[in-house]
Amino acid sequence: MTPSGLPGAVGVVRPPRSPRTRLVVVSTAAVGQAAAVIIAAAVAARPTGVLGVATGSSPMSLYAALAGMRADGLATEGLSLVALDEYAGLAGDDPRSYRSYVGTHIAEPLGVPAARTFVPAGSTAAQGAEYERTIRRLGGVDLQIVGIGRNGHIGFNEPGSAFDSRTRPVELDPSTRIANAPYFGGDPAAVPARAMTQGIGTILDARAVVLVVQGRAKAEALAAALYGPITPDVPASVLQAHRNVTVVADTDAFEAR
Ligand code: F6R
Repeated sequence: MTPSGLPGAVGVVRPPRSPRTRLVVVSTAAVGQAAAVIIAAAVAARPTGVLGVATGSSPMSLYAALAGMRADGLATEGLSLVALDEYAGLAGDDPRSYRSYVGTHIAEPLGVPAARTFVPAGSTAAQGAEYERTIRRLGGVDLQIVGIGRNGHIGFNEPGSAFDSRTRPVELDPSTRIANAPYFGGDPAAVPARAMTQGIGTILDARAVVLVVQGRAKAEALAAALYGPITPDVPASVLQAHRNVTVVADTDAFEAR
């Protein structure tokens, strides 16, 4: 489905396996703006809502586009931000931490104060449970932005993660440490081996999910998530079971077939 009015929407694409999943395929240059249009509609409907945010390269252009919309009058300052995950063992002010990413690329440009910006921290089950309580206290996530790993992960829920998992400490897949090595001087061994992540069950509790996917390296994972069976081997495939998912993919990540 390619809703009209979205910038750069392209022709006819094969519908996803789940009839409830909306699929928007756009040029790479239009991904950020297309995703931001969707997020902005949710923010305008609930300016004091809870926005779940992913880090990484995929949503960077989305956050830049949202900041541009704020400059044009979109009120984002009243939001609460809830991050998906964080490496274990990095100080919050380490520029490679997701807390730093969320501050620099999301909270500051959107004018959201630190008191309403939440990033999981630590490495114990108790700290994971504490993050779950924080999300509950906020009233749950209205819209969760997610990316997808080349191995199909969402958050840091690596293949094999239980669909009812909650925020918890996890071990990163070796392939994830390789994928994220560019942020750590190119050395996979320098990427923390452990992280804290919202669980798949936590992500599924969000009232809406927007999956942002860019690049040919994600094509296989995206195809498996959209058209394959729902299986823990491809964590993102579970999104087929969610009632309100929009996938914004660039033409490189979406292999029309
Ligand atoms: C990041 C996260 C991860 C990334 C995924 C894709 O908070 O939870 O699941 O979304 O690894 O990362 P990029 O966009 O850098 O390819």
